[in-house]
This record gives sequence, C-alpha cells and structure tokens, in this order.
Amino acid sequence: MTKAQIGLFGLGTMGSNLALNIAEKGHAVAVYNRTAEKTGTFFENAGDLRERIVPCATLAEFVKQIKPPRPIILMVQAGKAVDEQIAALREHLDAGDMIIDAGNANFRDTIRRYTELEGSGLTFVGMGVSGGEDGARHGPSIMVGGPEEAWIRIQPILEDIAARFHGEPCAAWLGPGGAGHFVKTIHNGIEYADMQMIAEIYGILRDGAGMAPGEIADIFERWNAGPLDSYLVEITATVLRTRDAASGKALVDVIADQAGQKGTGRWAAVEAQLMGVPATTIETAVAARSLSAEKDLRLAAEKAYGAPAAPSITADAAFIDDLENALLAAKVAAYAQGFAVMEEASSEFRWNLPLGMVARIWRAGCIIRSQFLSEIATAYEASAEPAHLLLLPAFMKTMSGASPSLRRVVARAVEAGLPVPALGAAVTYFDAFRQGRGTANLIQGQRDFFGAHGFDRIDGSGEHHGHWLRT
Ligand code: 6PG
Repeated sequence: MTKAQIGLFGLGTMGSNLALNIAEKGHAVAVYNRTAEKTGTFFENAGDLRERIVPCATLAEFVKQIKPPRPIILMVQAGKAVDEQIAALREHLDAGDMIIDAGNANFRDTIRRYTELEGSGLTFVGMGVSGGEDGARHGPSIMVGGPEEAWIRIQPILEDIAARFHGEPCAAWLGPGGAGHFVKTIHNGIEYADMQMIAEIYGILRDGAGMAPGEIADIFERWNAGPLDSYLVEITATVLRTRDAASGKALVDVIADQAGQKGTGRWAAVEAQLMGVPATTIETAVAARSLSAEKDLRLAAEKAYGAPAAPSITADAAFIDDLENALLAAKVAAYAQGFAVMEEASSEFRWNLPLGMVARIWRAGCIIRSQFLSEIATAYEASAEPAHLLLLPAFMKTMSGASPSLRRVVARAVEAGLPVPALGAAVTYFDAFRQGRGTANLIQGQRDFFGAHGFDRIDGSGEHHGHWLRT
C-alpha cells in the first residue's frame, strides 16, 4: 500500500470509529494505539476496510507510514494524556506535520498546546467532534480551530467523514487557536441544558401527573414531529420505551437517578461566568447533575421534609400542549445564552466566530442536532449585526408565542413541589432580560451605603455617592 494520507492515534471507541469512517470514505489511514494488542484486534475486525488501514506497532513505524507533511489525529483521553502523547509524537515528527487533538479538550489547554508548538515547525489543531460513537463512525459534526492553512490541508478528509445536512458537510473552520474546542464546550453546555429540561418535563409527567414511561414516550414521540424535532427528543422516547430484560420493567425505572458528568458542561458554565455572560440554564443544568449525585443527602432531606404530595397535575391535552411550548421556549433561552457566550468569547479572543456557520454544522451529526438549528442559522445569517438570539425576529415570535406556556408550567410545577431548575432559570432569565427597568438600582444603593462604591444617576453622568441616612 502507498503511504497513508492521515494518521489516527488512540483506538478507543471514538478513535476506532473515526478510523473506520476515514477508511470507508476512501482515505488510507495509519493507526496506532499505546497497547499494540488493541491495534491488532481493531485491524482484525475492520473487515473490507483493512485494505485502507495500516496498523502500526510502534510510534516510529506509525509516523513513517504517513505521507509527509503528516496530519495526525489524536483521540486520547482529554487532559494529561494529550500532553504526554504530544511529547512522545514530537520526537518522530518533521517540520510541517500537524497534530489534531480531536478529544474534548479544555480550549485553554488547546491554546497553551498551540503556543508550545509554535516555532517548532509543527502545527496544532484543536478539533471538537460531536455525535458519540455512532457519529464518529458514520458522520460527526466537526468544529475546527487552529491556523486556517491547516484547515485547508485537512478540509477534504474532514468534509468526507463529517455528517451531512441536505448534502452540506457539517465540518467547518471556526477560527484560530482554541475556537473549535470552545465551540464544542458550549455545544456540550447546551446539551446539558437541553437534557436537563427534557428530564424536568419527564419529572412533571412522572411525578406530577403519575404517567408511566410508555405514556411519556408517546408524548415525546409526538413532539418529535413538531418544532421540538431533535435527536435528544427522539432518543428520549426510545429510552423511555426500552424495557429491562432482567426485571421486565421499563429500563429507565431501574436506572439510578445519579447523573455522571465528564466536565465539559461545567467548563461551559465556568467560562460563561468568567466572561460575565449569563448562562443560567447551563449553570443550573450542571448544578442539577451535581445534586443528583448527592443521593444520600437527598434521601435524608426527603425524610426530613417529606416528599411532595402524590400526583396532583391533570395532564389534559391543554397541559401537554403547554409542556411542549414550555420546552420550546426554554430551549430558545438556553440556545440564546450559549450563543451569547460564544459571541463574547469571539470578541475576547478575537476569533471572529461565524455563529451562523456554528448553527449550520450542528444541524446534523452532533448530539444537539435539531430542526431548530436551521432557524438559528437562517436568523443569524439574515442579521447584518451580531445580535442576541432573543432579539432576532424569528425567535421573538417563538418566545412571544411560547413563553406564556413556560411561565404556566414552571408555576404549576413549583406549586406542586416538583423541581424545575433549568425551566425556571429559562423563564426568569427571559423576564430579567426583557425588563427595561430592573432592580439593580437598589443593589447600587446598598453598595454605596456600605462601601462607598458609587453609582451612576439616571439624570446625570459621572460617579455619585449618596448622603445616606445613618441610624
Ligand atoms: C458529543 C458529546 C460527548 C460527551 C458525552 C458525555 O457531543 O458527542 O457531548 O462529547 O462526551 O455526551 O458527556 P458527559 O459525561 O459530560 O455527560
């Protein structure tokens, strides 16, 4: 075989699937894993695709098998392993070679790694890949950050392996440095918010209306044919319908109610806070996962305070419609927050993020893919200036129509003692966002009272202090 066009380092689930995807699209790929045994097993199971896969037992051989200048995808666990493998690879690479980190890296690490390699002749690219195992195998959404020349070199392969939305590849160069990994982090933050909101609606139907998983599945399935049409709503119905072979019960009923998290959602919330952009739906979704993990504490609190009353909500057709609209309105608020964080990061890091393009490449392949993203792409691309999503005409219409339902649903859930942190965050964010005259005047007064921090007056410029009454 002639030399491989690209290398893939790291044959875990995502790496293996990405390698098979690359080979299937007609590109010869050299593969390497630290434990050679895994490389052997991967190759044996690759079937017909073996003719375009070059399994390598050592790093030296791996590098030798790739045609220079070499693009090498690194798909190893985020964190220390990435630095270790870059150090190991560097020994063997030549000027012009490119390392593409395709894991879920923190974009600050990506910027550091890029800077560390600058001047060495090697190029570093941070590439967000979304879509889970299936996406990696058959078409993920690919978010690339790094030098544009690097993107131009790898673009043909990446576009070949990416998901397609009506023929358009869901892969794009989003900006220099950490832009790709940052966008992936916000994707995951929105993913957390989306999943949390869906779980809260499930909770209202399960605990408020006393519905069985199958009945709730029917509702989500129906919604998937409307404006909520999305991968997450679709799989929610499937997850709720699946039965446990051992107990015969709905599988969801035998799964422990403690959510895991690998960290990307938390990074999204932290970055939003660092930049001073409210992303309350993402923050509450992360916090809700953390609280879910505190099972013993929750059980003790339930014992101490008592559980909410038995099902008290009548899930008639009007209420189910309200739930659908509530989820839609809350989703708009979550995406508006996520996009506002990207907008701010774009100016802070001078990335010039193409937000319409971000929405475009999220329309297929990734976990938050939905028809809704087409509307975001169109709305951004139709607007001359970067604008807040909630101020784009299409979304103003959606929010005006759907927010009353969100308000009713949150009020009803709170009244029934059912937790709706993310839905609640969405409605309170919306209310605060559209409040022309807020209440921060009082906070400014308090700050000046105890700390002489000063305030602006509505009738004059410059900093002022109050002659406060002192008792
Ligand atoms: C994706 C996903 C993926 C993420 C998992 C698990 O876009 O394919 O976001 O990158 O790792 O969803 O994330 P948590 O363990 O944090 O839920």
